[in-house]
Amino acid sequence: MSQPEPARRPADPCILALFGAGGDLTKRLLLPSLYNLLHAGLLPEQFAIVGVTYDPLSDDQFRAQMTENLKTFAGESVDAKLWERLIPRLYCVSGDFNDDGLYAKLAKKLEQADKDTGAGGNVLFYMATPPQFFGPIVQKLGKAGLTKEEKTTEEKEHWRRVVIEKPFGHDLASAQALNADIGRVLQETQIYRVDHYLGKETVQNILVFRFANGLFEPIWNRNAIDQVQITVAESIGIEGRGGYYDGAGALRDMMQNHLLSLLSLLAMEPPVSLAADSVRDEKTKVLHAIKTLRPEDVLTQVARGQYGAGTAQGKPVPAYRAAKDVNPNSNTETFAALKLEIDTWRWADVPFYLRTGKCLPLRTTEIAVQFKPAPAGPFADVPALNAVPNWLVLRIQPDEGIYLQFGAKIPGPTIEVGAVEMDFAYRDYFGAEPRTGYETLLYDAMIGDQTLFQRADTVNAGWSVVQPILDVWAALPARDFPNYAPGTWGPPDADALPARDGRRWREIPVEPPPKGKKS
Ligand code: BG6
Repeated sequence: MSQPEPARRPADPCILALFGAGGDLTKRLLLPSLYNLLHAGLLPEQFAIVGVTYDPLSDDQFRAQMTENLKTFAGESVDAKLWERLIPRLYCVSGDFNDDGLYAKLAKKLEQADKDTGAGGNVLFYMATPPQFFGPIVQKLGKAGLTKEEKTTEEKEHWRRVVIEKPFGHDLASAQALNADIGRVLQETQIYRVDHYLGKETVQNILVFRFANGLFEPIWNRNAIDQVQITVAESIGIEGRGGYYDGAGALRDMMQNHLLSLLSLLAMEPPVSLAADSVRDEKTKVLHAIKTLRPEDVLTQVARGQYGAGTAQGKPVPAYRAAKDVNPNSNTETFAALKLEIDTWRWADVPFYLRTGKCLPLRTTEIAVQFKPAPAGPFADVPALNAVPNWLVLRIQPDEGIYLQFGAKIPGPTIEVGAVEMDFAYRDYFGAEPRTGYETLLYDAMIGDQTLFQRADTVNAGWSVVQPILDVWAALPARDFPNYAPGTWGPPDADALPARDGRRWREIPVEPPPKGKKS
């Protein structure tokens, strides 16, 4: 069964000024996403890309490089004819991001690209660079007058927007400082802070699932829900990113942004409208309502781990500490788990367990909601009834869907209850289009929809949740790492979090059970 795609208009005419156009993010995600938008007819006709690179490249060299990268990272599916239409609209300027001269060259190139394409002066600056450049580039853009939206009498109205990648800050203080820094140059309406999880279809579907159905909202609270578990597991290690990761760790890299975004969508109150600030207000309120962890809570409500050497999926995996650009005595966590509580009428006493890590048994992201058990009543003596919890699982990736587990009578002369499931898979209804998750983010930035981007106060609120943990960890002696083997679900401490409350992590099947079988 397939559903028709909703008709969408191409994005607004604009030039994408891409800082870090030779980098990994551009190659792996932005370029394939731009191609997917082109393929879907969602890029405007009046469009150009101005790559800003450190390595000196002519326009022609840049065009060849982008074409090569697209072939490598978007694979077989690229329609060469379609891509060729975009090639003449690729331009490049090169230089040091800290050099004023680069911005003078950029201004000229933008003018040329605008004249060639008729983009109407609209520019989307995208910072696909290491984080230390975010602030300085914004300052230089401002100084060169490139972020100005005000029009003089002769000028036409145009917009200037800036997309900023993660990590946004290294802790609360640096995130606040960066917000203040860019806020001196840009209005909040010009700033698009990326959390790429918000670009994933299934993450956006959380709002639709909750608020476009009458069924779930009445039971979406402490009366019916026993616990919520959010798991973002990766089977890969740090994949050559030791230089960045060793200074970050799982709490900063994943928990502070991606997992808290999932939590806020799952737990927020209904927004009064779908206007960007209405949704973002509610998400931010949830983060503010999370009980601040006291130092003693950090000791009992937080677990961390680092993988050692071992084997996973039949292959040898070197220890994290042996990875390139990682300190051989590193105390950085590659796994983190937390128990959080949201102090509101809706959620008081419902524990939210969050976990994320590298080198776990499989790649999966899911939000699992467990409902309270039925009072035993007439089924008090029925075998296995209590062993069948009602789990509602929002599978975010890779096998996108929604799954509900409930108890059903096992056919036969006696009353016995077994676990059965209703399982909705996205691909069965909507097919599987090639998507990276960045298509929506790029498109939304080009049409000026900030809903899926983090506001300054949301980012600060996320950091406020994890800052007490960072403080306690910084004050403690180094942990006895490594403490988990690759291919396992993290250190034993992680199991202790729900176990202290008489609960356990939902068992996530490493191989999905064959259809029609009990799990
Ligand atoms: C990034 C992290 O934000 O998200 C990476 O820096 C992580 O460490 C990645 O691997 C996971 O994203 P996804 O979309 O593959 O789940």
